[in-house]
Amino acid sequence: MTPGAASKFGTPRSRILGTGSYLPPQTRSNVDLEKLVDTNDAWIRERTGIRERRIAPEGMVTSDMAAEAAKRALDAAELSPRDLDLIVVATVTPDMPMPATAVFVQQKIGATCAAFDLSAACAGFIYGLTIADQFVRGGAAKHVLVVGVELLSRVVNWADRTTCVLFGDGAGAAVVGPSDSERGILGTRLYSDGTLAESLMIPGGGSREPLDEARLHDRRNKVHMKGQDIFKAAVRNLYSASQSLVDASGLTNEAVDWVVPHQANVRIIDQVVARANYPKEKVLSNIDRVGNTSSASIPILLDERVRDGTIKSTDLVLMCALGAGVSWGAALIRM
Ligand code: UT7
Repeated sequence: MTPGAASKFGTPRSRILGTGSYLPPQTRSNVDLEKLVDTNDAWIRERTGIRERRIAPEGMVTSDMAAEAAKRALDAAELSPRDLDLIVVATVTPDMPMPATAVFVQQKIGATCAAFDLSAACAGFIYGLTIADQFVRGGAAKHVLVVGVELLSRVVNWADRTTCVLFGDGAGAAVVGPSDSERGILGTRLYSDGTLAESLMIPGGGSREPLDEARLHDRRNKVHMKGQDIFKAAVRNLYSASQSLVDASGLTNEAVDWVVPHQANVRIIDQVVARANYPKEKVLSNIDRVGNTSSASIPILLDERVRDGTIKSTDLVLMCALGAGVSWGAALIRM
């Protein structure tokens, strides 16, 4: 990507040209988890809506899943890796702290463009989409690959029943490019509230808590979460972010064809949807099969429903997500 090449591509609107996703084949059911921690299938299903989640096999890394989803999105967009001007990978489970997972994705798919990671946890895909929209509309890039990918099974504490039952592995991707019609990204909203930064974190392994034996023993390199803080923040903020976006777009909630919410907990989704008065049949979900895949959650669900024909061309889709940070956002898209 050449900064300054802007005027070459600038366009009034960007749109999703193709989507792709990848789920590792191995499932881990709630009953499997009963053997690891003091939990049970009924509690997990009732409190979260999750039945099973996917677990990446040993040897598979984050960029492997991301590259697979990326190839599928490029195929759907009928573009080659060489057509990409930028790769943005949203993840909190990178291959390694340095370099960016995005450069491994670039290497694996055979692209040559600029590539970087972003860290916005479960809101990562909305953040990535916003960046892509800005780059394409501003003209600094023509085609941007956005990937949300997580290999959470490697950072979950499998002895902590309050977190290990929630998360799963997977990747979702979208290629964003110029739109020559009314179809496209109508708007996005991004927010963060750092006062809740310690409600969901992997505290060890950075400059604050470099890993040593004691910290490894205390599992400081694993996910720590105050679930109820996140739950309340999600219900409150996802509703207001979504509503303000729909209102600002001059549309109504009735005009929205599909809501694609982050898949963290069916009870969060139900409460947000009830506030906004969306009919249940318009609210898409796959949490029962994949659990919470953080930044991969929305693009996996989006891709599944585009491929099965549920989401059709020109449908109005509302996406919203909140996670660690807390960071959250919403996107409104005419597909
Ligand atoms: O992706 C964004 C980040 N994450 C989220 O959005 C997650 C947000 N939070 C949540 O989804 C929910 O808070 C949880 C699913 C994590 C927990 O549900 P909850 O209804 O808030 O449960 P709780 O934490 O209030 O715990 C209720 C009880 C506790 O037992 P006591 O103290 O009442 O005896 C927990 O120890 O449930 C117990 N519990 C479990 N029991 C069986 C917690 N986890 C489990 C478990 N199996 N896995």
